[in-house]
Amino acid sequence: MALPDSFIQELKARSDIVDVISSYVNLKRTGRNMVGLCPFHGEKTPSFHVNVENAYFHCFGCGAGGDVITFIRRIENLDYMDAVRLLAQRAGMTVPTEGVDDKTARIRARIFEANREAARFFHRMLYSPQGAQALAYLRGRGLKESTIKHFGLGYAPPGRFALVDALREKGFRDNELVTANLAFAGRRGNAVDRFVDRVMFPIIDLRGNVIAFGGRVMGDGKPKYLNTSDTLVFRKSNQLFALNFAKNSGEQRLILVEGYMDVIALHQAGFTNAVATLGTALAVDHARLMARYTKEVIVSYDSDAAGQKAADRAIPMLRDAGLTVRVLAIPGSKDPDEYIRSFGEQGPARFKQLLDATGNDVEYRLQKAKSGCDLTTAEGKIAYLNAAVSVLATLDSRMEQEIYAGRLSEEVGIQKSAVMQQVDKLLRKRMRSAQTRQVREIQQSVSAQRDSVNPQRAAHLRAAHAEEALIAYVINNPDMAKNIGEQMPPEGMVTDFNRRVYQLVMGRIQEGRPVDLMDLSQEFSMEEMGRITQILSSAPPTGDTWESAQEYIRVIRLEKETLTAADIPSAGVEDINKYLETLKELKK
Ligand code: UTP
Ligand code: MN
Repeated sequence: MALPDSFIQELKARSDIVDVISSYVNLKRTGRNMVGLCPFHGEKTPSFHVNVENAYFHCFGCGAGGDVITFIRRIENLDYMDAVRLLAQRAGMTVPTEGVDDKTARIRARIFEANREAARFFHRMLYSPQGAQALAYLRGRGLKESTIKHFGLGYAPPGRFALVDALREKGFRDNELVTANLAFAGRRGNAVDRFVDRVMFPIIDLRGNVIAFGGRVMGDGKPKYLNTSDTLVFRKSNQLFALNFAKNSGEQRLILVEGYMDVIALHQAGFTNAVATLGTALAVDHARLMARYTKEVIVSYDSDAAGQKAADRAIPMLRDAGLTVRVLAIPGSKDPDEYIRSFGEQGPARFKQLLDATGNDVEYRLQKAKSGCDLTTAEGKIAYLNAAVSVLATLDSRMEQEIYAGRLSEEVGIQKSAVMQQVDKLLRKRMRSAQTRQVREIQQSVSAQRDSVNPQRAAHLRAAHAEEALIAYVINNPDMAKNIGEQMPPEGMVTDFNRRVYQLVMGRIQEGRPVDLMDLSQEFSMEEMGRITQILSSAPPTGDTWESAQEYIRVIRLEKETLTAADIPSAGVEDINKYLETLKELKK
C-alpha cells in the first residue's frame, strides 16, 4: 500500500502541521515551538509540543508523537490510509488509488454502505403496515414526526431474514452483514437478522456515516436495548449518540444523559446539545471526545441510585479531561425524558429552569456530603465537615478551596482556618500515599521492563541511548550520513527497533531522498512514531557535534562486541580474551 513519494511530499507541503493541529488544540508559541494541552491525555499544564521546523509533535506527558498523519490517525481514530485521505481531502488532493491494496479500508467502506442501506430499510419499514405498532409506540412516547425523521428512527420487522433479504437484494454478501454486526451467522453459516421486532435508533458519526444501531423492544422483553457490538467502524467506548447534531448546536456546553430517548426528548425540546453514551458507562475516551468540542459538561443522569452512582463515576473522569462539570439533578422523575414529558407543553421551560439552577460539581458533592447529616448535633456537624473536607481536598485550585472553606465555616459555625487546616492535613496524607504509589509503579515498570516499542532497550540502556542519539544526529546532519554509515552499518546496532529506524533513515539519505517523519509514518505504528519523536526531542537543541557522534559509535560498538562474545557458547581462548578486554573497557 505504499503511496508514491511525490504524493506524500505534496501532501506534506500542503498540510501545515500547526494549521492542522490548531483545529484540535489551542497552541501557544514558546520560542521556536508551539505548546498546548495534550489532546491524548488529560492534563492541566501543557506538555504537548509542536516542533514547527521539523513538523512533528511530541507530548512529554504521555509520549504520543509523530508527524501530521500520525496526529490525525490518533485524534480521529483512523488507520493510516484513512488519515491520508482526510488530509488529502482537506488539502484538495486526490489519493492515488493505483496499487493501493487496502483490504481493511474496503471492508470498512462496505460496512458503512450496509449500515446506510439498513437504516433506510428500517426507516421505510416504520411507515409500512408491519411497522404500524412501532410508529404508534414512538408517537405514544411523545415524538413528533419531524423528530422521527431527524433521527432517522426505524423498525426492524419480525422474522429472521427481513433485513438480510433486503440487503442481499442490494448485492451485500452474508459475511459482510455479519462483519457489520447487522446479522449473526446461522448454523449453516448463513446470515440471520440480529435486530428483530425492535424500534431502531441509528448511530451516526461526525462525518455522517451510519456506524451502528441501538434497538429497543416495545414490550418487556430482554434486553431492553440491543446495540451493535464493536466492529471495524464502531467502538462504543469513544462514540456518543447525537454528537453529530450536538457539535453544531451553537451551545457552549454539552448535556450528558444516559439514554437514547433522553437525548431525543431533549433535542425535540430544543436542547440540541444533549449526547449520551451507547449502552455503556462513560469511559475516559468519551470524556476526551467531549473535551474536544466543549469546555463544560452538564451531567443529567437518571435520579435513581444506579444513575447517581454512574454520575459519581463520570464526574472525576470529565474533570480529568479538563472539563468544567455541572450536575443537573432531576427532582421526582426518573430521567430527563420522563421529566419533560410529565409537564406536557411546559416541559421544555421546566427543564430550562433546572438547567439554569445547576450547581457546579463541587456544590453537588457538598450537597451530597450534607445529606444524612443532622447539623443540629455536634456529631452531625463533624460528619459533614469530614466529608466536605475530603471533597475540598480533591480540588486543585487553592482559591476554590478557600471559597468553599469560607462557606462551610459560616454554615457550621467554625473558623475558616480550621477547615483549611483539615484540608491541608488530608492533602499531605494523600500526597504521601501518591508518592509511595508512584515509587512502586516505577519499580514495577522497571522490573517488568515493559517497553513494547523497543523491548531490548531496558537490557541495553547504554547502547540504546547511544543509538538513539546517533539516529537523531544523522537525521539532523544528513550530509554526514555517508561517513557515519561507513563506520556504523545498521547491523552494528544492538537493539532491533533502533536498527530498523536507523536502516530506514540511512536508506532514504543514500537514495538522496529527504528524511522526515512523514516518510516514516508509513512504516511505523503510532506507538513507534511516538518513540521516534521522543528520540528527536531528546537531542540537544543546538544539535550534536561530530565528536559526540564518534562517541556514540564507540559505545554502540563496544556493547555489540560484548553481546556477540557473550552469545558464542563455545568461545575460543581468543574470543574469551577479547570478551574480557571489552568488559574491562566498559568498566572504565
Ligand atoms: P435505561 O434503562 O435508563 O433506559 O437505560 P432509558 O434510556 O430510560 O430507555 P427508555 O426510556 O426506557 O426507552 C439507559 C441506556 O442504557 C443503555 C441504552 O443506551 C439506554 O438508553 N441500555 C439499557 C442498553 O444498552 N441495554 C439495555 O438493555 C438497557
Ligand atoms: Mn427513559
